[in-house]
Amino acid sequence: MVKLNLPIMQKAMNRRQWLATTALSTTALAAWPKRTWAADKPASGKVIKLDQNENPYGISKQVEQAIVSAASQSNRYPMRELGALRDLIAAREQVAKECVLLGGGCTEVFSLVGLAYGTAGKQVLVAEPTYSGFNAYVERLGGKLIRVPVDDRWQTDLDAMAARAAGTDLVYLCNPNNPTGTITGGEKLKQFCTAQARERMVLVDEAYFELVEDSRRVSTVELVRQNANVIVVRTFSKIFGLAGLRVGYAIAKPEIIAELRRWQTNFCAVNRLGIVAAHAAYLDTEHIVRTRQRIAAARTQLYPVLEKLGHKVIRDSQANFIAFEAKGGSPQLIERLQKDHQIAVRPFEFFDRKWVRISMGTDDEMAALITALEAIG
Ligand SMILES: Cc1ncc(COP(=O)(O)O)c(C=O)c1O
Repeated sequence: MVKLNLPIMQKAMNRRQWLATTALSTTALAAWPKRTWAADKPASGKVIKLDQNENPYGISKQVEQAIVSAASQSNRYPMRELGALRDLIAAREQVAKECVLLGGGCTEVFSLVGLAYGTAGKQVLVAEPTYSGFNAYVERLGGKLIRVPVDDRWQTDLDAMAARAAGTDLVYLCNPNNPTGTITGGEKLKQFCTAQARERMVLVDEAYFELVEDSRRVSTVELVRQNANVIVVRTFSKIFGLAGLRVGYAIAKPEIIAELRRWQTNFCAVNRLGIVAAHAAYLDTEHIVRTRQRIAAARTQLYPVLEKLGHKVIRDSQANFIAFEAKGGSPQLIERLQKDHQIAVRPFEFFDRKWVRISMGTDDEMAALITALEAIG
């Protein structure tokens, strides 16, 4: 019998060969999106990663300590800790603990919402452009997206969405919106969601909520407290700096959470290190406030630079990224940033035009970015 030394074999193969030996066909490989993410690059430590809207400042010492001290209990299922995190969130949001469901990032919660409310034959009302994570999943499930363009200030057009809502089963709103960064707030948002929730499910993605300056922040959790058919999703991947640990949650009334849980096959969906890190990060107000201030300062610094260089900028982002249409062509700028300056940013296409989205980095990263942008011109 031939003895296989699998780890060594895998090491000797390149990524393409290895994938070819697995279930993926060459057609599937060809269909893979050509992403320019830094994660695809060698871990040289040189790439400046401004492509995935993470917290560039990382985690605080408290969070690191929480992770380190929990590591030795990795042999135990973390149900008790998961319950403690759920209770902490419920208390801060002033909802019952039955109103909170934790998952592997917002992305897992999206899949639960998709399975419960967005499957084949269902219609889902969304803004264009908006975050693609939920939308892409609905399409894969056979649901149909009804896309409504954002208004001329790049804000989600609630009136136009209301006008298209008849016959749809679910509305997805991303607030602040990705990739525009704009927010839709105040009474108008609450009125829209309240009215829509009488007819269909409303899903509000508040992944960037904590980055919004406090005076402009309006959460639809208030509508959950009023028993509306609204599901709010939040994440620990952005301001809390835990993208690598995959923790997110939904807030909705207990009947809806019970329905989502029915689709969640993992009985304890978040791992121990993720849970304890999220718990510590949630309590670390200083780190959150400082991150919000630094990100706001980075936006303020970058806007005039982009405008001076003649790029067409989407103003008024309240999140940790800025989108713009580059003067000499967005793909060209993206390529030069990547090849000549080792800066990874994200390409987008909407309204038949090509755009660049840049995540805010640390002070040093912003300085390097600005030098690179000015050099490219
Ligand atoms: C608007 C929005 N929602 C959700 C996510 C995904 O969040 P998570 O990391 O919790 O899966 C992202 C990630 O970029 C996002 O931009």
